[in-house]
Amino acid sequence: MNSFDNFRSQVAISQSFPTGKIDVSQSLLLFDEVLLKTDVSSQETIQFIKKFTQRVGFKGGESLKDFKSFPKNLDAVLKKWPTPINRSQHLVVLGGGSLGDFGGFIASVLKRGVRLIQIPSTWLAAMDSAHGGKNGLNFDGSKNQIGTFYPPEAVYIVKELLETNPIEVMEQSYGELIKMALVGDSHFFKEIAMEKREARDFLWRFMPQCIEDKYAVILQDPFETKAIRQILNFGHTFGHALESHFGWAHGDSVLQGVFFALEWSRHRGVLSDALYSEFVHVIAQKFDRVPAQALDWYKRPSAKTLGSLIGADKKMTGTGQIQFVFLKNVGQPVLEKVAVADILEEAKRQLWVK
Ligand SMILES: NC(=O)c1ccc[n+]([C@@H]2O[C@H](COP(=O)([O-])OP(=O)(O)OC[C@H]3O[C@@H](n4cnc5c(N)ncnc54)[C@H](O)[C@@H]3O)[C@@H](O)[C@H]2O)c1
Repeated sequence: MNSFDNFRSQVAISQSFPTGKIDVSQSLLLFDEVLLKTDVSSQETIQFIKKFTQRVGFKGGESLKDFKSFPKNLDAVLKKWPTPINRSQHLVVLGGGSLGDFGGFIASVLKRGVRLIQIPSTWLAAMDSAHGGKNGLNFDGSKNQIGTFYPPEAVYIVKELLETNPIEVMEQSYGELIKMALVGDSHFFKEIAMEKREARDFLWRFMPQCIEDKYAVILQDPFETKAIRQILNFGHTFGHALESHFGWAHGDSVLQGVFFALEWSRHRGVLSDALYSEFVHVIAQKFDRVPAQALDWYKRPSAKTLGSLIGADKKMTGTGQIQFVFLKNVGQPVLEKVAVADILEEAKRQLWVK
């Protein structure tokens, strides 16, 4: 059983697979089946997967997190599980955030908890989703409605695995990286601003800081009960609604949610005009990203459609409001309770909705 006393997983960052660290004979591997494709994956990855005699492949992506398909998927896992399940066995999850959320949930409920190791295969999962113990399945079109807190014992980050990410998958990590750079304690947005290289060449450099900043937050508030961990939702309240409505990738949606939150922070007087301009400029320059609602192809949804998604997404406070994360400066997030109607009014003002 994993220990809740230790939300800090053992994190090992290396160039190659942690072959000697996992007892493959005592483990079941859940992996993204794309990683067996020779035209996408590397020989090292394929060899690593084949070391596990007990393994189950799934198609990665948001559909894996759909609660409706969960019974069938769980059945596939249980059929492969070495019986009888005992407490020394590990569930090893090799994949992006979708596999991580799905596998993490299974590990937490199977026999009331089996040992869990995460090996993130996308930049987004390596920097963010594999850490902190949250998992989640989607229900009725809304994200992460069913889930638990269940930290993995270990997270192994393997550079040669991340290097096979197609560019568009790699770029999906930008949203969570920028979020952490803006709200995190180490203020590394300022270092990003001074980087001479493009983002794709500096992701590896900022990975440890991104992870450390996340642990610094979750260790203070592992179960999100003290209004501390909520700062990691920066960009997510609005981003999740865009993701559910448009079917955009999670990371891209979060980045758009960050733009929304920055502009709202500026408009409310929380963030100065100068800092707002600086942040948006750095994101455009280093990550080549701008707010989508100003672009030709953006099709504005109705306020009602987006409002129902926002309402379903987050836990409301007792007064029917949502804790929204604004930003005052790098490393200075500000939590304020707002009504869904306030978010929609702002979304109208920013031309995100009709
Ligand atoms: N639990 C958390 O704390 C947390 C935090 C952030 C995001 N998330 C969740 O993570 C998910 C997004 O994660 P993601 O961006 O990793 O998406 P993903 O798992 O859907 O992977 C994106 C795509 O990349 C492919 N892929 C994965 N690894 C690859 C590799 N090495 N080479 C080539 N292709 C590869 C996948 O098959 C998929 O098509 C969302 O569901 C989001 O809600 C969870």
